[in-house]
Amino acid sequence: MSAVNVPDTLASRGRLVEARDVSLSFGQTPALRGASLSVNAGEILAVMGPSGSGKSTLLHCLAGILAPDSGEIRFAGRRIDMLREQERSALRRDRFGFVFQFGQLVPELSAEENVALPRLLGGVRRAEALRDARAWFERLELDGLEQRRSGELSGGQAQRVALARGLVARPEVLFADEPTGSLDSLTGERVMDLLTAAAREQGTTVVLVTHEPRVAAYADREVIVRDGKVTTLSADPVLA
Ligand SMILES: Nc1ncnc2c1ncn2[C@@H]1O[C@H](COP(=O)(O)OP(=O)(O)O)[C@@H](O)[C@H]1O
Ligand SMILES: [Mg+2]
Repeated sequence: MSAVNVPDTLASRGRLVEARDVSLSFGQTPALRGASLSVNAGEILAVMGPSGSGKSTLLHCLAGILAPDSGEIRFAGRRIDMLREQERSALRRDRFGFVFQFGQLVPELSAEENVALPRLLGGVRRAEALRDARAWFERLELDGLEQRRSGELSGGQAQRVALARGLVARPEVLFADEPTGSLDSLTGERVMDLLTAAAREQGTTVVLVTHEPRVAAYADREVIVRDGKVTTLSADPVLA
């Protein structure tokens, strides 16, 4: 069958998150200049590239945190860049999870309260949210640390708490921006082992921004961002 005859719904099947020709500048600084990317449902995609190339900006656009100046962002076939901020914020809360470089735990809350936060924001009652949160402590080798504040955790422990928080609401997509960037390589590998195992187990699609090849090696596929554009390295399984 020629590609021209494939209906759009079929052609885009499996593509969960997409950027099409996205550009975004911060004042005079162009961060993205026509970036296009498809993330397939269930895959772990590594977004590599040098510092300042536009990786974080692309991730923020894909996740509906930033609206591009031009181009389209689609989630499950639907444009999200045109949504109002309130709708994008509901989408992020209900369908997406996030892990950033420096955990960004709320210092006033205990570790288990931090993990429970996305469930509480999703309207789940406190007892249930805390029960869901605690289940992650054993799974991520954090037993006994439930009551600690972020200042009482090591970097690797804090990042595993952040990972639990990113996954606790069973998001469809986990957006991870340099999740091991503040960790030594051994600790980083442990975090990546746990991240990829949990994501595969619950079928979560992962967009993993990293500049470390060792971290990207955990992904199914990788793309490179350079000067605000995306270069695809390995074949897209949907197109192959
Ligand atoms: N909030 C911002 N304000 C101004 N410039 C920004 C901002 N965020 C990113 N930039 C600029 O946009 C470009 C891409 O940045 P970024 O997406 O953070 O790259 P990366 O994540 O690959 O290091 C860089 O030149 C950076 O300085
Ligand atoms: Mg970045």
